Amino acid sequence: MNEMPPKNIVLIGFMGSGKSSIGRELSHILNYPLVDTDHLIVKRTGHSIPEIFASEGETAFRDHESAVLQALLDEKKERQIIATGGGIIERPENRLLLRQLGYVVWLIVSPEEILRRTSRNRDRPLLNNDNPEDTVRTLLDHRIPLYKESAHEEIETDSLTFPEIATGIIESGRYFFSLL
Ligand code: S3P
Repeated sequence: MNEMPPKNIVLIGFMGSGKSSIGRELSHILNYPLVDTDHLIVKRTGHSIPEIFASEGETAFRDHESAVLQALLDEKKERQIIATGGGIIERPENRLLLRQLGYVVWLIVSPEEILRRTSRNRDRPLLNNDNPEDTVRTLLDHRIPLYKESAHEEIETDSLTFPEIATGIIESGRYFFSLL
């Protein structure tokens, strides 16, 4: 049985997959507010993501992600774009929460493009090491089935522009919500 999720669009995908940029595009076109789970964590803790990883560790960061998803669900808001951190799908309970929050879209991007985009800044603790390429490939192998399990829709983004991706998401989102 399918229970109707609220009319939010939830963007998931690896670091550098364009969740924030496409989120901004969707927010602009639909005039829905954009919320970002990383920003919510920074706001509620008063610390940056690298600070949280350094002082509390990854497990604590994942706890913050679960708490933020649960808080979003409890708010019962609709018509929002929700951009998420790339590892939000690591926890089984988060994968369920994501699907309860709205229409979940997985932005698929190649490892080459991920490396190109993420090499521009050093604010991603998991990639701040001697061999980010190896880390990206290992994490992708582990996470691809988890993104797949969480998503209502998958989009291969490498050959598309952000506006093209946003338009596609809006069309398929309308279809999804009218079908449910
Ligand atoms: C992470 C992705 C980051 C951020 C944190 C951990 C991950 O978000 O949540 O650095 O585990 O993939 P972005 O996907 O927005 O970079």
